[in-house]
Amino acid sequence: MSLNGKVTVVGAGFYGSTTAQRLAEYNVFETVVLTDILEGRPEGLALDLNQSRPIEGFETTVVGQTTDPATGAGYEATAGSDVVVVTAGLPRKPGMSRMDLIEVNAKIVRNVAENLAQHSPNAVIIVVSNPLDEMTALTQLASGFPKQRVMGQAGMLDTARFSNFVAVELGVPVGSVQTLTLGSHGDTMVPVPSRCTVDGRPLSEMLPADKVEELVVRTRNGGAEVVALLKTGSAYYAPSAAAARMAKAVIEDAGAVMPVCAWVDGEYGISGVYLGVEAEIGREGVRRVVEGDLTESELAGLKEAAEAVRAKQADVTDL
Ligand code: LAC
Repeated sequence: MSLNGKVTVVGAGFYGSTTAQRLAEYNVFETVVLTDILEGRPEGLALDLNQSRPIEGFETTVVGQTTDPATGAGYEATAGSDVVVVTAGLPRKPGMSRMDLIEVNAKIVRNVAENLAQHSPNAVIIVVSNPLDEMTALTQLASGFPKQRVMGQAGMLDTARFSNFVAVELGVPVGSVQTLTLGSHGDTMVPVPSRCTVDGRPLSEMLPADKVEELVVRTRNGGAEVVALLKTGSAYYAPSAAAARMAKAVIEDAGAVMPVCAWVDGEYGISGVYLGVEAEIGREGVRRVVEGDLTESELAGLKEAAEAVRAKQADVTDL
């Protein structure tokens, strides 16, 4: 099997380092670059990951590189990346909403996006920093990249959480459960019950409406529930799984349809906003937004989410 391409993960916290690990263990990329501003951390983690290669049996090389946000030094190690996952920024503390991070993370993400764009002008960027929808919009602005080459990771994670809750509730294999959430990675996350099935049967036939609603609420608060338990830091196993799958779909030019935060331009009657929708992912990033059938109330929820996110994304341009 021949290895192919270079992926950079910016930020070597738990989210970034587990993403780098998953990407390396896929044994698909030639190189995984892991960067951080904390001197020595990415180098140390890369060394450790490379030493797991004989045991896990992957040939991908992991490169760790400290970067200096003031000068951009170190970014040369990321040059020519095909895909970049941006995890840079602060995670939430217990009691915080993702939106509480907007000012501090906007400065960090803008700096990262500018440096990345300079060294990897053809990369596809996957943003995971919070607040997700706003940081995705900001990354596109700061990088100057075409909109289809910048997307955010949220829907994969939210649907995974939802599917897991449904599987546990019904005591069925997770593989038999299909769920879908659209909208924002936040308060206006829109569950799409009409697209949720268990072994192909509508979820509404398997669980009463109030139970489904309870699981939706738990999904919407899924990140906060983990943050409250951990007390420091936020979730990273499920988030990194989601981000790594997206990066893999890009390098493999898979054409997989995934729920992601993508630029919406007319689909669902919504335009000019980064929003959680289903999209076909390939080498050029978002090949197209896939417009599914929604019920009237689901569509109304999606439009409401679009307007909430639009207002915040406008603010972010000044941060
Ligand atoms: C979460 C964060 C990563 O939902 O947004 O866990």
